[in-house]
Amino acid sequence: MLKKVRKAVFPVGGLGTRFLPATKAMPKEMLPVVDKPLIQYAVEEARDAGIEEFIFVTGRGKTIIEDHFDRSYELESVLSERSKEELLKELMDSVPNAGTVAYIRQQEPLGLGHAVWCAKRLVGNEPFAVILADDLILAKTPCLAQMTAAREGVGGGNMLAVMKVPHEHTSRYGILSPGKEEGALVEVEGLVEKPNPAFAPSDLAVIGRYILEPNIFPVLENQDRGAGNEIQLTDALSSLIGGDPFNGMKFEGTRFDCGDKIGFLEANIAFALSREDLGSDMKDIVTKFASNL
Ligand code: G1P
Repeated sequence: MLKKVRKAVFPVGGLGTRFLPATKAMPKEMLPVVDKPLIQYAVEEARDAGIEEFIFVTGRGKTIIEDHFDRSYELESVLSERSKEELLKELMDSVPNAGTVAYIRQQEPLGLGHAVWCAKRLVGNEPFAVILADDLILAKTPCLAQMTAAREGVGGGNMLAVMKVPHEHTSRYGILSPGKEEGALVEVEGLVEKPNPAFAPSDLAVIGRYILEPNIFPVLENQDRGAGNEIQLTDALSSLIGGDPFNGMKFEGTRFDCGDKIGFLEANIAFALSREDLGSDMKDIVTKFASNL
């Protein structure tokens, strides 16, 4: 029987230089979209996909993330005294159950492949998800849940979230050599990290959601440095092609690149517009600004 995806890895060791000075003392994963940090969206998406264990690969200066996913007794007692029941419930619900969160440090910034490898002992010998909090996805069914469902249909293996990107942007992403397509699934025949548009095999890019088999770990262990002189997850994955099923999934939903200022601002507008409590005010604001352009 297909092993359930129970664990998710969140690489959160990056420096966030693109958001300085905001990220000088605060991790970029704590930047809020409307009123929730990026990393909380990621954890909720994992939870909605049935993930039971949450593994954060952190770095120096990231301890606020640990505090964020912990109980805050002072705050809880103040909210309770002030009868702010709804807010209190929301706060309590956002804390993962005792014993389900683990933090491990990536001691050197050697790349995404290395960050995932750091989680090896905590993941063990089972399939697992990787979520990059920078890639925020607004969707009816959360992206990772779409992927776990699709994975059952193909009997497991590796699965990556993919979407078409402008051709001139291929050098920002892992890019697929697509094979057979069936519905939302695209067979992965090749993978290359951040190719120059002149050499990109397609415009289908990997977005930060992965479901991986544990046989990626021994490959990562011996992986040479690739693009940007970093140990790339994409490179390790490309050497697994031809074994287990390996698919890209064109997910339904809108993805925002929150590692980029414009993408982040756009996400704030889109998420505010989608909210029952803020949508109509936000719409008025956007219309007001648009009419002054
Ligand atoms: C990482 C991956 C890349 C992927 C991208 C998605 O790149 O290495 O393959 O397409 O995430 O956001 P990064 O954005 O960390 O440079």
